[in-house]
Amino acid sequence: QIDSDGGIDYMFKIVLMGDSGVGKSQLLHRFVKNEFNLKSKSTIGVEFLTKTVVMDHKVVKAQIWDTAGQERYQAITTAYYRGAIGALVAYDITRRESFDHVEKWLEELKIHADKNIAIMLVGNKSDLSSTREVPTEVAEEFARQQDLFFTETSALDSTNVESAFHGLLCQVY
Ligand code: GTP
Ligand code: MG
Repeated sequence: QIDSDGGIDYMFKIVLMGDSGVGKSQLLHRFVKNEFNLKSKSTIGVEFLTKTVVMDHKVVKAQIWDTAGQERYQAITTAYYRGAIGALVAYDITRRESFDHVEKWLEELKIHADKNIAIMLVGNKSDLSSTREVPTEVAEEFARQQDLFFTETSALDSTNVESAFHGLLCQVY
Protein backbone atom coordinates (compact mmCIF):
# COMPACT_ATOMS: atom_id res chain seq x y z
CA GLN A 1 0.00 0.00 0.00
CA ILE A 2 1.27 3.43 -0.98
CA ASP A 3 0.21 6.63 0.78
CA SER A 4 0.92 9.06 -2.02
CA ASP A 5 -1.42 9.44 -4.97
CA GLY A 6 0.91 8.47 -7.77
CA GLY A 7 3.51 11.12 -7.10
CA ILE A 8 7.04 10.97 -5.81
CA ASP A 9 7.38 11.61 -2.09
CA TYR A 10 11.15 11.85 -1.98
CA MET A 11 13.95 12.25 -4.44
CA PHE A 12 17.37 11.14 -3.28
CA LYS A 13 20.65 11.54 -5.06
CA ILE A 14 23.28 8.89 -4.55
CA VAL A 15 26.81 8.91 -5.95
CA LEU A 16 28.97 5.93 -6.85
CA MET A 17 32.68 6.07 -6.13
CA GLY A 18 35.66 3.75 -6.30
CA ASP A 19 38.58 2.79 -8.51
CA SER A 20 38.17 2.01 -12.17
CA GLY A 21 37.05 -1.57 -12.78
CA VAL A 22 35.61 -2.32 -9.36
CA GLY A 23 32.15 -2.66 -10.90
CA LYS A 24 30.33 0.60 -10.14
CA SER A 25 28.51 0.70 -13.46
CA GLN A 26 27.55 -2.96 -13.30
CA LEU A 27 26.21 -2.56 -9.76
CA LEU A 28 24.11 0.32 -11.03
CA HIS A 29 22.82 -1.58 -14.05
CA ARG A 30 22.06 -4.63 -11.93
CA PHE A 31 20.10 -2.54 -9.44
CA VAL A 32 18.18 -0.41 -11.94
CA LYS A 33 17.72 -2.74 -14.91
CA ASN A 34 18.62 -6.15 -13.56
CA GLU A 35 21.26 -6.45 -16.26
CA PHE A 36 24.93 -7.41 -16.24
CA ASN A 37 27.61 -7.05 -18.87
CA LEU A 38 30.89 -8.95 -18.51
CA LYS A 39 32.50 -6.78 -21.20
CA SER A 40 31.46 -3.48 -19.70
CA LYS A 41 33.53 -0.52 -20.92
CA SER A 42 35.02 2.07 -18.62
CA THR A 43 32.62 4.91 -18.01
CA ILE A 44 33.35 8.18 -19.78
CA GLY A 45 32.03 11.35 -18.20
CA VAL A 46 29.02 11.17 -15.92
CA GLU A 47 25.72 9.39 -16.25
CA PHE A 48 22.85 8.74 -13.94
CA LEU A 49 19.97 6.30 -13.78
CA THR A 50 16.89 6.52 -11.65
CA LYS A 51 14.91 3.88 -9.87
CA THR A 52 11.74 4.30 -7.91
CA VAL A 53 11.35 2.20 -4.81
CA VAL A 54 8.64 2.02 -2.17
CA MET A 55 9.88 2.38 1.40
CA ASP A 56 7.64 2.58 4.39
CA HIS A 57 4.62 3.33 2.14
CA LYS A 58 6.45 6.23 0.56
CA VAL A 59 7.54 6.48 -3.05
CA VAL A 60 11.24 7.22 -3.16
CA LYS A 61 12.96 8.07 -6.39
CA ALA A 62 16.67 7.35 -6.28
CA GLN A 63 18.83 9.19 -8.75
CA ILE A 64 22.13 7.35 -8.88
CA TRP A 65 25.16 9.01 -10.40
CA ASP A 66 28.03 7.09 -11.91
CA THR A 67 31.35 8.33 -13.19
CA ALA A 68 34.77 7.04 -14.15
CA GLY A 69 37.06 5.89 -11.37
CA GLN A 70 40.03 6.77 -13.55
CA GLU A 71 42.34 9.44 -12.28
CA ARG A 72 42.32 11.43 -15.49
CA TYR A 73 38.62 12.15 -15.27
CA GLN A 74 38.64 13.41 -11.73
CA ALA A 75 38.08 17.03 -12.64
CA ILE A 76 34.36 16.30 -12.24
CA THR A 77 33.73 17.04 -8.63
CA THR A 78 31.52 19.79 -7.32
CA ALA A 79 28.55 19.14 -9.60
CA TYR A 80 28.85 15.40 -9.11
CA TYR A 81 28.54 15.57 -5.34
CA ARG A 82 26.10 18.47 -5.14
CA GLY A 83 22.90 17.47 -3.39
CA ALA A 84 24.00 13.88 -2.80
CA ILE A 85 22.68 12.40 0.41
CA GLY A 86 24.26 8.98 0.01
CA ALA A 87 27.47 7.54 -1.39
CA LEU A 88 28.28 4.00 -2.32
CA VAL A 89 32.05 3.51 -2.18
CA ALA A 90 33.04 0.32 -3.95
CA TYR A 91 36.19 -1.76 -4.11
CA ASP A 92 36.95 -5.11 -5.74
CA ILE A 93 37.51 -7.94 -3.23
CA THR A 94 40.03 -9.48 -5.65
CA ARG A 95 42.13 -6.29 -5.86
CA ARG A 96 43.72 -5.18 -2.62
CA GLU A 97 44.79 -1.90 -4.19
CA SER A 98 41.19 -0.90 -4.81
CA PHE A 99 40.49 -1.44 -1.10
CA ASP A 100 43.57 0.56 -0.09
CA HIS A 101 42.26 3.43 -2.18
CA VAL A 102 38.96 3.57 -0.29
CA GLU A 103 40.53 6.06 2.12
CA LYS A 104 41.30 8.32 -0.80
CA TRP A 105 37.65 8.16 -1.92
CA LEU A 106 36.50 8.97 1.60
CA GLU A 107 38.80 12.01 1.52
CA GLU A 108 37.10 13.13 -1.68
CA LEU A 109 33.76 12.90 0.06
CA LYS A 110 35.04 14.89 3.00
CA ILE A 111 36.19 17.66 0.70
CA HIS A 112 33.28 17.82 -1.71
CA ALA A 113 30.18 16.27 -0.20
CA ASP A 114 27.75 17.23 2.54
CA LYS A 115 29.19 16.30 5.92
CA ASN A 116 26.07 14.31 6.82
CA ILE A 117 26.21 12.09 3.73
CA ALA A 118 25.47 8.41 4.42
CA ILE A 119 28.21 6.11 3.20
CA MET A 120 27.96 2.45 2.26
CA LEU A 121 31.24 0.58 1.74
CA VAL A 122 30.79 -2.21 -0.78
CA GLY A 123 33.20 -5.04 -1.53
CA ASN A 124 32.10 -6.09 -5.01
CA LYS A 125 32.76 -9.30 -7.02
CA SER A 126 32.00 -11.64 -4.14
CA ASP A 127 31.42 -14.34 -6.79
CA LEU A 128 35.21 -14.40 -7.30
CA SER A 129 36.02 -15.58 -3.80
CA SER A 130 38.71 -18.00 -5.01
CA THR A 131 40.89 -15.01 -5.95
CA ARG A 132 39.94 -12.86 -2.99
CA GLU A 133 42.63 -10.46 -1.72
CA VAL A 134 40.58 -8.56 0.86
CA PRO A 135 39.27 -10.66 3.78
CA THR A 136 35.74 -9.80 4.81
CA GLU A 137 36.84 -9.24 8.43
CA VAL A 138 39.46 -6.68 7.41
CA ALA A 139 36.88 -4.63 5.52
CA GLU A 140 34.36 -5.04 8.32
CA GLU A 141 36.82 -3.74 10.85
CA PHE A 142 37.76 -0.81 8.64
CA ALA A 143 34.08 0.05 8.17
CA ARG A 144 33.53 -0.09 11.91
CA GLN A 145 36.43 2.27 12.57
CA GLN A 146 35.25 4.71 9.91
CA ASP A 147 31.62 4.41 10.94
CA LEU A 148 30.47 3.19 7.52
CA PHE A 149 27.84 0.68 6.56
CA PHE A 150 29.35 -2.34 4.86
CA THR A 151 28.36 -5.23 2.65
CA GLU A 152 29.84 -7.51 0.00
CA THR A 153 28.07 -7.72 -3.33
CA SER A 154 28.19 -9.38 -6.70
CA ALA A 155 26.80 -7.48 -9.66
CA LEU A 156 27.31 -10.70 -11.63
CA ASP A 157 25.14 -13.03 -9.54
CA SER A 158 23.08 -10.24 -7.88
CA THR A 159 24.12 -11.02 -4.30
CA ASN A 160 23.27 -8.12 -1.95
CA VAL A 161 23.01 -5.53 -4.73
CA GLU A 162 19.45 -4.59 -3.92
CA SER A 163 20.08 -4.60 -0.18
CA ALA A 164 23.18 -2.39 -0.55
CA PHE A 165 21.19 0.33 -2.31
CA HIS A 166 18.17 -0.14 -0.08
CA GLY A 167 20.38 0.03 2.99
CA LEU A 168 21.75 3.34 1.85
CA LEU A 169 18.29 4.71 1.03
CA CYS A 170 17.02 3.58 4.43
CA GLN A 171 19.76 5.55 6.16
CA VAL A 172 18.90 8.77 4.43
CA TYR A 173 15.16 8.33 4.46
P1 GTP B 1 35.04 2.65 -14.42
O1 GTP B 1 33.82 3.06 -15.18
O2 GTP B 1 36.26 2.57 -15.28
O3 GTP B 1 35.29 3.52 -13.21
O4 GTP B 1 34.81 1.13 -13.87
P2 GTP B 1 33.54 0.53 -13.09
O5 GTP B 1 33.82 0.60 -11.63
O6 GTP B 1 32.29 1.16 -13.58
O7 GTP B 1 33.58 -1.01 -13.49
P3 GTP B 1 32.55 -1.81 -14.42
O8 GTP B 1 31.20 -1.82 -13.83
O9 GTP B 1 32.67 -1.32 -15.81
O10 GTP B 1 33.14 -3.29 -14.30
C1 GTP B 1 34.51 -3.60 -14.63
C2 GTP B 1 34.64 -5.05 -15.00
O11 GTP B 1 34.33 -5.87 -13.89
C3 GTP B 1 33.70 -5.49 -16.13
O12 GTP B 1 34.38 -6.45 -16.92
C4 GTP B 1 32.56 -6.13 -15.38
O13 GTP B 1 31.88 -7.09 -16.15
C5 GTP B 1 33.28 -6.77 -14.20
N1 GTP B 1 32.42 -6.91 -13.01
C6 GTP B 1 31.66 -5.95 -12.44
N2 GTP B 1 31.01 -6.43 -11.37
C7 GTP B 1 31.36 -7.74 -11.25
C8 GTP B 1 31.03 -8.78 -10.33
O14 GTP B 1 30.25 -8.61 -9.37
N3 GTP B 1 31.61 -10.00 -10.55
C9 GTP B 1 32.47 -10.22 -11.58
N4 GTP B 1 32.99 -11.45 -11.70
N5 GTP B 1 32.81 -9.25 -12.47
C10 GTP B 1 32.27 -8.03 -12.31
MG1 MG C 1 31.89 2.61 -14.89
